[in-house]
Amino acid sequence: MTGRILLTGGAGYIGSHTYAALSEAGYEVEILDNFSNARLDVPDRLEMITGRPVTVHRCDVLDPEGLARVFASNRFDGVVHFAAKKAVGESQKIPLDYIETNCTGLVNLMKAMRAAGCFRLVFSSSATVYAPTLDWPIPEEAALGYASTYALTKLMGEQIIRATAEGDPRWRFGILRYFNPAGAHPSALIGEDPSDIPNNLMPYIAKVATGELPYLNVFGDDYPTPDGTGVRDYIHVVDLARGHVLSLDALMRGDESHIVNLGTGQGYSVMDMLKAYERACGKPLPHRVAPRREGDLACYYGDPAKAKTLLGFQAERGLEDMCQTSWAWVSRASNSRQG
Ligand code: UD1
Repeated sequence: MTGRILLTGGAGYIGSHTYAALSEAGYEVEILDNFSNARLDVPDRLEMITGRPVTVHRCDVLDPEGLARVFASNRFDGVVHFAAKKAVGESQKIPLDYIETNCTGLVNLMKAMRAAGCFRLVFSSSATVYAPTLDWPIPEEAALGYASTYALTKLMGEQIIRATAEGDPRWRFGILRYFNPAGAHPSALIGEDPSDIPNNLMPYIAKVATGELPYLNVFGDDYPTPDGTGVRDYIHVVDLARGHVLSLDALMRGDESHIVNLGTGQGYSVMDMLKAYERACGKPLPHRVAPRREGDLACYYGDPAKAKTLLGFQAERGLEDMCQTSWAWVSRASNSRQG
């Protein structure tokens, strides 16, 4: 498919992988990012991956005039919206900042899109919008709810988009509910790069592997799961990125709006992940069993059937690939922020 696409948050972890995937699929892509949580060298690295110059608009989604200027600079056929705050713990401490960036930012973006006559939107949502459940795999029709302000902002984002499209039939949207992204690009030029101590499992294990953190805290080993540790649906970020291409392809074809899970339908435990990472980096990784983390569920994985039927999406890369590419990315000295 061809078309000119704006990627907000395109310099971030999932955004940069989606840039590479869209570019490879034949789209012309431009990045809008305020670089508040992205490395400044990501555009250069994307140029190395794609072999083409990368256009970047340094702009905040909370700046309506800046957004209007970006839309005036080019005619976009669609937008993939990643730009958002995403740390669950932080969202509990500064809820209004999360609501402002994630919800007001979305409204600003959609107003700028409407003014420019651009009505195709792919939205980065999260499986965190599902109400806590003991029924897996989780289908898209499952009850919704939220347990953090971050989750609330994703749920509100979905509702803002749905309500807008109900009121104005020109809109077509793809809402993508991600399970747990992991891994890095095979080039080892882009990957997840938290500037702080990570909250999520995979980046935390990666920092234990590089020696930046001394050991992994395994949050609970007495869950009703095969080995007692929490089970999640880890999806390779390169697969996840391809899900965005397929969602956008569907909108470009004129298909209906859709809401789909992007996961594998396969659950892995904390210990499965740790062991796979040990194999990838070739050394034992220290860990200690710690108390359960508040709010965690024993098991959480998605039903991937709808994404397959509607978009032809199926995750192809497994646990080994997630760990190997993550290790290749974090162990490359030139990728270190320090140097
Ligand atoms: C978390 C968020 C979720 C968000 C998602 C984004 C919480 C309660 N949930 O989900 O809202 O959408 O990240 O990717 O924060 N674990 C350890 N040690 C660690 C870190 C994690 O044992 O240092 C375990 C957890 O208990 C869990 C698994 O690893 O069983 C995965 O944790 P994590 O990567 O934080 O993802 P989620 O809990 O699925």
